[in-house]
Amino acid sequence: MASVSAFLYDKYMARVENASLKKWREELFAGVKGDVLEIGAGTGASIDFYPSGDIRLIMAEPDEGMRNRLKQRLARSGRATFSVASGSAENIDAADESFDFVISSLVCCSVMDVGKALQEIKRVLKPGGRFIFIEHVAAEKGSAKRKWQERFNPLWVKVARNCHLNRETEQAISAAGFRIEEIKNDTMRSSNPLVRPAIRGVAVKC
Ligand SMILES: C[S@@+](CC[C@H](N)C(=O)[O-])C[C@H]1O[C@@H](n2cnc3c(N)ncnc32)[C@H](O)[C@@H]1O
Repeated sequence: MASVSAFLYDKYMARVENASLKKWREELFAGVKGDVLEIGAGTGASIDFYPSGDIRLIMAEPDEGMRNRLKQRLARSGRATFSVASGSAENIDAADESFDFVISSLVCCSVMDVGKALQEIKRVLKPGGRFIFIEHVAAEKGSAKRKWQERFNPLWVKVARNCHLNRETEQAISAAGFRIEEIKNDTMRSSNPLVRPAIRGVAVKC
């Protein structure tokens, strides 16, 4: 069952990847190097976008079905310095100040506790380390889209595995004490209209 839903996830996301996400990953991951952690790595949509060279990447994914597909994809990629781990973003199994980069794409919407996850990300980043994020987020407060997001959120959380339509992730990143170095608001084309408002960028551990 878990493998079926991971397979369906990839099928569903293929159009969104082609319309937006591949380009965003390409732009943001170009300078990634050193010791890197990707949280909620899913089935490995990011693998092909990491540059070659000096990069040791741990791809952590708590869901077994997603993780199995991730392992298969990683094996096909031949990236010998990449590895797969389990574990959640709220409880990262790594020492303080271990990573140069932490990557999150479409994960802050789904974690149980965003504040705790961001504190963990900060803990495991080296001083000056960078948190790269691609996240779908709440639409502007008071907008018609935001009202629909609020209305549908209780149902969406149940059918989309704890994915929230109304997370204010930029504010949460700032509240966690990161300095936002770069951020773009955009539309995640080809996705459900309530999931389209998106941010992507880089935050620095001060
Ligand atoms: C929408 S998918 C995104 C997957 C992948 N990052 C991508 O860009 O295709 C959300 C992922 O977050 C994972 N996830 C959910 N809760 C999590 C948590 N508390 N910590 C880490 N990952 C989590 C899910 O298992 C799922 O793989």
